[in-house]
Amino acid sequence: MRPLFIAFEGLDGSGQSTQAGLLAASLNPSRKSIITKEPTNNLIGGLIRAQLTKEWSTTQECLQLLFAADRAHHLERVVEPALAKGYNVITDRYMFSSIAYGAVSADREWLKQINSKFRMPDHTFFLDVPPETCISRMEKSRLEFELFEQLDYLKKVRENYIQLAKETENFHVINGSRHKEEVHLDILKAIEG
Ligand code: TYD
Repeated sequence: MRPLFIAFEGLDGSGQSTQAGLLAASLNPSRKSIITKEPTNNLIGGLIRAQLTKEWSTTQECLQLLFAADRAHHLERVVEPALAKGYNVITDRYMFSSIAYGAVSADREWLKQINSKFRMPDHTFFLDVPPETCISRMEKSRLEFELFEQLDYLKKVRENYIQLAKETENFHVINGSRHKEEVHLDILKAIEG
């Protein structure tokens, strides 16, 4: 069996990193599994984070190109070398974040185009948690919050993920509102086919 490339997707606060950890610990133990994430922690990821925290700003188009550039670098430096060594690679966010989040304000076809050359994951898991639940989880870690604006935005992001599930192979929508072990078992079942 060849190594697997798996992506976790979801709204912020939907449990991607928890599920990535559980999955890494339970995949075939004879093969190493690495967990990685986007945006990355390298230079391009730093520019993206500076934009997200409003320390620096650029246009929506430039931001989307940075996400794609960060991904190209992530694939070249982390994902491809690890797969070549025979490791499973589990990424917390991948190109579907660009389309689901980006298409709220940028052109969807353009976003698909700038992401079209990237390797498709063997499996993608969208952890579906109601936007209201994600907001209440995030509220606990934030001082200021524009509740309605955020809710409306996250609802659109969720719809975009549901649309992606309809048009993408091996894209699984997993009910992420349950106990983490139940969610994990569903993910394993989907991988085992
Ligand atoms: P997040 O996973 O929350 O990063 P961190 O935990 O390091 O802060 O991602 C930051 C935000 O970026 C998140 O709201 C989703 C968004 N995002 C996009 O809009 N497009 C993308 O291509 C990616 C990877 C993330």
